[in-house]
Amino acid sequence: MDVYEAVASRRAVRRFSGDPIPRETLERVLSAAARSPSGANLQPWHVYVLTGAPLAELKKRTAERVAEGDPGDEREYQMYPPELKSPYRERRSAAAEQRYAALGISREDRRSREAAVAANWDCFGAPAALFCYIDRDMGQAQWADLGMYLQTVMLLLRAEGLHTCPQMAWSVYCRTVADAVLPPPGLILFCGVSIGFEAPAACHDRIDRAPLAETVTFVDG
Ligand SMILES: Cc1cc2nc3c(=O)[nH]c(=O)nc-3n(C[C@H](O)[C@H](O)[C@H](O)COP(=O)(O)O)c2cc1C
Repeated sequence: MDVYEAVASRRAVRRFSGDPIPRETLERVLSAAARSPSGANLQPWHVYVLTGAPLAELKKRTAERVAEGDPGDEREYQMYPPELKSPYRERRSAAAEQRYAALGISREDRRSREAAVAANWDCFGAPAALFCYIDRDMGQAQWADLGMYLQTVMLLLRAEGLHTCPQMAWSVYCRTVADAVLPPPGLILFCGVSIGFEAPAACHDRIDRAPLAETVTFVDG
């Protein structure tokens, strides 16, 4: 698979088959992704990979918290600005509409929307998930390094025939994730990434992007 194909075929997949992923595949991908660039080569990512019983236990414990109505842990970072201005606000609503339309869920159907959100805590059925942490001392530039690293991981997983869903949602239950992976003190959980083979009947939503001219300006005279 060439890079264009990997980029084009990567989407946030939210329905995985439970088929296990060979450990060697994950090791191959994560070894290759370590070549990702980072400012001053700090490599500020700290990654934990969960599969099998530890992942099942994390899913179970989180589902229990959700079932109890637990609103989650004190947030360690702000996922989005509190007032999302234009054009970001419209892009967010459009993405949500496209996603729920693809699932056949109407705007009024709150229960189904909530169930779709709750599927985060099951990693959408994925047999593996990685959890990416960063040192509390790191600044915005190092958070950007994490993004580059994670995109590299996701594209390499495409090359292995696998799909992913990055999930900031896990930061809501970061203490439960920490109980599972036991990170050293001083690390903040950025996100989880569910990893697996796409379930055969998964819905193929393709979320639009802004036209190039909205986000890219060529200054070439
Ligand atoms: C850093 C990051 C965090 C995300 N967190 C979540 C999440 O918690 N749950 C979820 O279902 N999707 C999550 N997504 C997926 C986005 O909703 C998705 O990438 C976006 O809508 C574009 O769709 P596409 O990736 O399918 O093209 C996240 C994506 C990124 C990059």
